[in-house]
Amino acid sequence: MNSIDLMIHEHKNILALVEVIRNASCRILEGASVEVDDFRDMITFARTYADEHHHGKEERILFREMMERLGPAAVKLIQHGMLVEHDMGRFHLGELENALERYESAPNTRDKLEILINAGSWANLLQRHIDKEDNVVYTFAGRDLTDDILRSIDSEVEIFERQAEEKFIQEKALKLLKELTEKYQ
Ligand SMILES: [Fe+2]
Ligand SMILES: [Fe+2]
Repeated sequence: MNSIDLMIHEHKNILALVEVIRNASCRILEGASVEVDDFRDMITFARTYADEHHHGKEERILFREMMERLGPAAVKLIQHGMLVEHDMGRFHLGELENALERYESAPNTRDKLEILINAGSWANLLQRHIDKEDNVVYTFAGRDLTDDILRSIDSEVEIFERQAEEKFIQEKALKLLKELTEKYQ
């Protein structure tokens, strides 16, 4: 297994959620009611798959190796770029969750706005973040890490994947994504 190819493939699934979020948000703007449970499912996919599963591999395996081995340019790119963006994503998901809770107990326009702002901010942030990783960060890793290191990243990622499979992380998340994409295409 090539871990960089696997992570690029995961980006495609995350971008499918970005589409779902935009489509669900457009429906609200066009007058549909806020489907709180669907937005909660979007948060669940974003947290379990995009953040814990995908960002987990980046932070604990690929980015760690890049920072250790590729010098100050890699440290700067990852610490001040990618990791900050992972955190911003977590912030928007938390704010989205809070707004959904408030809206559910007392529907109001201000929280509807907060839902759209934070859902849209997460979607835009992740789209730009993924573009940067596909075209700059991962290409940097693939070009500058030695074959030995790339192979050891692959074995660590394989273990990570197997442990997640045992907990049905990928299977559950992708099932949820399928349901959401069917509903919001
Ligand atoms: Fe990332
Ligand atoms: Fe990524």
